[in-house]
Amino acid sequence: MRFATALSFIAPVLPLAWAQLSLPDSPYTPPDASHGTQVTNGSTPNAQWSSLVGNLLYFYDEQRSGKLPSNERVPWRNDSALDDGKDVGLDLTGGYYDAGDYVKYTYPLSFTLMSICWGGLDAGHGYDLANQTAYLDDMLRWGLNWLLKAHPSPNTLYVQVGDGNLDNAYWGGDKDIPYPRPSYQVNDTSPGTDAAAQASAAFAACSALYANRTLSASSATSALSNASYASELQAHARDLYAFATNASGGMQTYQTAVPQSGEAYASSDFADELSVAALFLALSETGSNATDYYADAVKWYYSRNLGSQLKAGSETVLNWDSKTPAIPVLAAQLASAHPDVVSGSNATLQTWQQVVEDYFDIFINIRGRSYLTDGGLLYFPGDSDEASLNPALNLAMLMMRYASSGLATSNSNQDRYEQFAQGQLDYALGKNPMFVPYVVGTHPNSPANPHSAISTGYSPPNANSSALTAPDNLDADPAQEAYVLYGGVVGGPDAHDRFWDLRSDWAQNEVALDYTAPLLTLAAHALVRGAGDPYYTQVRAGAYDEVRPGGAPCDAAVQTGCKHRGGLSTGGKIAVGVVVSVVGLLLLGLGAYWVWHVRRQRRY
Ligand SMILES: *[C@@H]1O[C@H](CO)[C@@H](O)[C@H](O)[C@H]1NC(C)=O
Ligand SMILES: *[C@@H]1O[C@H](CO)[C@@H](O)[C@H](O)[C@H]1NC(C)=O
Ligand SMILES: *[C@@H]1O[C@H](CO)[C@@H](O)[C@H](O)[C@H]1NC(C)=O
Ligand SMILES: *[C@@H]1O[C@H](CO)[C@@H](O)[C@H](O)[C@H]1NC(C)=O
Ligand SMILES: *[C@@H]1O[C@H](CO)[C@@H](O)[C@H](O)[C@H]1NC(C)=O
Ligand SMILES: *[C@@H]1O[C@H](CO)[C@@H](O)[C@H](O)[C@H]1NC(C)=O
Ligand SMILES: *[C@@H]1O[C@H](CO)[C@@H](O)[C@H](O)[C@H]1NC(C)=O
Ligand SMILES: *[C@@H]1O[C@H](CO)[C@@H](O)[C@H](O)[C@H]1NC(C)=O
Ligand SMILES: *[C@@H]1O[C@H](CO)[C@@H](O)[C@H](O)[C@H]1NC(C)=O
Ligand SMILES: *[C@@H]1O[C@H](CO)[C@@H](O)[C@H](O)[C@H]1NC(C)=O
Repeated sequence: MRFATALSFIAPVLPLAWAQLSLPDSPYTPPDASHGTQVTNGSTPNAQWSSLVGNLLYFYDEQRSGKLPSNERVPWRNDSALDDGKDVGLDLTGGYYDAGDYVKYTYPLSFTLMSICWGGLDAGHGYDLANQTAYLDDMLRWGLNWLLKAHPSPNTLYVQVGDGNLDNAYWGGDKDIPYPRPSYQVNDTSPGTDAAAQASAAFAACSALYANRTLSASSATSALSNASYASELQAHARDLYAFATNASGGMQTYQTAVPQSGEAYASSDFADELSVAALFLALSETGSNATDYYADAVKWYYSRNLGSQLKAGSETVLNWDSKTPAIPVLAAQLASAHPDVVSGSNATLQTWQQVVEDYFDIFINIRGRSYLTDGGLLYFPGDSDEASLNPALNLAMLMMRYASSGLATSNSNQDRYEQFAQGQLDYALGKNPMFVPYVVGTHPNSPANPHSAISTGYSPPNANSSALTAPDNLDADPAQEAYVLYGGVVGGPDAHDRFWDLRSDWAQNEVALDYTAPLLTLAAHALVRGAGDPYYTQVRAGAYDEVRPGGAPCDAAVQTGCKHRGGLSTGGKIAVGVVVSVVGLLLLGLGAYWVWHVRRQRRY
């Protein structure tokens, strides 16, 4: 048994088999942004949703690391970071750059892959309708094949490649990415329970997709079905789950073992990842394996009191750190599609429906810590202060999924979830006070300045020789970004629905693997539902320029020139900024770019 599994770990050093669905002879490339103003309502499948799915998948091509394939679609991308892993004698090239920078982070990548495979399980037919299933396959394999390399033995998982400090100080293109790019691992004696469990969840969810498992029969895709790939992923999912639960170093958050990862992606807990991994394993396994994993998922949920995170007032978001809201939704889908798996447990379909609907009700009736902005965006104080769209889109994704799986306990609830989700989706796609669809390159009003080194086109004067090669003025140098980063979903507006479209403002303008993921699943669902056009076809080009706010955002990224509402005076804020800057300089010794390091620090 062990021996068979161990053999599979030799595979990554051999050339990886890239065989997969063949990509179309004439590749999909995103149309000009003006396409977003064309009404295609009534087309079947809907042409606008189809190109949105295409653009969102194209974003992941733009974020690729490593040796690019001969059929690479993005003309301005080059091979990059070809020495990754050499420091540890491994090939860790490939995978995806995480966000606006060039670090590869396993924890949010695994969350993204899990999220997209889950979307394939319940709305995969949407990709078929859009003629994008081959690109879905390509996108998933580019990430999964790297994750396979990052898991070279059962109890070793690489959680980061690249130095966050050095990398964040570099603002050039993909040809001069500075080395050293160290590889950081968790292992049996220095474990990372959450990172291992999240990677297990990604492998299990994607294994289920490639195994053509039923989660929501009506809208799945079976085009990806590939038994050998599914079982390869499954073996890694099992081993990572065992590593997460049984490491001799015990259970701990991964940044305890690798503090470098905590600078950008500190995890607050690991029980949510354990439970969600066990649920996806229960889906991908059969027989007593499935019931055993389900029992484990239930055990983590109750013994770690995860339900308390779903109560009004302490309701948590779904994001790269917090997976608790996914648990009851996935468990309800599993219980409905595979009653045999849950039949021996006291946690039944009804148990999960109750949990889900109580949680959704917090938002429908606005009775928790979250609220709707004047413009209608669901806002979680704290969590939404950076990347405001992400919690809202992730919740919309859960609601749409639950409703479309036919799990709502009444028709009126079903309608409420669909309407609420649609409201958040519409907001993200232009029904907002800025008239901005927050997807780069999709409409004339889309953000023009994503915080993204790869698309900006800045040429560092001293190439890879120094850490300090960013321009003095990120927003002005160059005036216009060199490349349109199609399909990148940016962070989003502030709590007053205002959006500045400033490149330096990573809180509002950064793109990230996990920001684009929920919109992809929502777009696939829209195709399955036969929805009318995405909202942006109704948005007048140029409307944003008429309402673009003055002053500065006053968020974690941009403070100078603040005209804020309440809180510290401008002088006070600058004073705080100066103090923090000095501390940052002392701590990091990396100049004025310190603030990038706290880009996505722990939220609570
Ligand atoms: C299934 O996936 C494996 C592993 O990537 C690949 O070698 C094989 O060609 C695929 N089979 C089909 C039919 O796509
Ligand atoms: C998908 O491909 C089929 C067959 O070539 C074509 O009829 C259809 O219009 C395409 N759909 C989209 C959304 O591109
Ligand atoms: C890729 O290389 C080309 C040719 O040198 C260059 O023009 C382009 O800017 C590079 N792309 C990036 C993202 O740096
Ligand atoms: C295990 O991981 C820790 C933390 O990354 C590292 O310091 C240590 O060297 C690793 N152990 C081995 C045997 O590689
Ligand atoms: C996938 O599963 C569906 C539903 O169980 C079934 O109809 C279909 O034939 C399967 N496809 C493949 C390729 O196994
Ligand atoms: C953890 O170890 C125990 C004791 O050896 C074993 O019974 C259990 O199956 C292991 N768990 C996993 C998930 O491998
Ligand atoms: C159950 O899991 C074990 C490994 O954990 C595997 O060897 C066995 O084949 C699985 N059983 C089934 C029915 O898949
Ligand atoms: C199921 O059993 C667990 C452990 O015995 C308990 O904590 C939990 O409250 C029970 N759940 C339900 C829905 O009865
Ligand atoms: C830049 O990086 C390359 C490749 O890693 C290295 O060979 C070269 O010496 C570096 N240049 C400088 C000036 O450090
Ligand atoms: C667009 O089409 C959808 C269904 O396809 C329909 O419900 C909706 O009313 C249409 N909207 C407009 C503005 O025509």
